[in-house]
Amino acid sequence: MAGEGRDRAQPPRDCPLCPRLVAYRLANRRRHPQWHNAPVPSFGDPAAALLIVGLAPGVAGANRTGRPFTGDYAGEILYPALLRHGLARGSYAARPDDDLEPVDCRITNAVRCVPPENKPTGEEIATCRPFLRDELLVEPRPRIALSLGRIAHDSVLRVFGCRLRDFPFRHGASYRLEDGTWLVSSYHCSRYNMNTGRLTEEMFDAVMKRVVELLGETSGCARLAV
Ligand code: URA
Repeated sequence: MAGEGRDRAQPPRDCPLCPRLVAYRLANRRRHPQWHNAPVPSFGDPAAALLIVGLAPGVAGANRTGRPFTGDYAGEILYPALLRHGLARGSYAARPDDDLEPVDCRITNAVRCVPPENKPTGEEIATCRPFLRDELLVEPRPRIALSLGRIAHDSVLRVFGCRLRDFPFRHGASYRLEDGTWLVSSYHCSRYNMNTGRLTEEMFDAVMKRVVELLGETSGCARLAV
């Protein structure tokens, strides 16, 4: 799916690829006809240097509002962190018509449709990967991918054809992949991880600081050719 300067492909509203997710979408449309209830498109400049990869929309958050992380608990952690680190401007109000604007940063998910119980299957993650591949490989490519959680981490590695065991998932790890793209990994900023203390605001800030450093270090680099 890599190409020259074309838009990054987004799944259509009625994407038919994952039968279980389609059934869940239709049920959600019946229950909540005013919600977005469709694949959630990426948010931010398609030419941004930084791509943040989450897991999947939350049912009453991004699946309702139509913008990644927006209305989800994880968005209450992610967006203020982006604002603190100069990776967004404006203000986050948990609605798609707030004035939040990512700065040289784009936000997407490994799986674009809401999965039941927030748990996509391996097959659904693989089926949705071509859309992630587009985000990572269509020119101009992001220089840095920040993965939130292991599923996003592994899915990014698979896009690049990397062996997972060569790049183990660790909070705060940063790896330079063969084509020069950096992969920075963080625990997911989920309610569970924050409530259990697996991830703290300080730990998340440290990852954001590393991302900002890398953005500075790589800013002179030409965009890498496919
Ligand atoms: N909402 C999203 O859009 N993605 C996540 O990973 C979590 C919540």
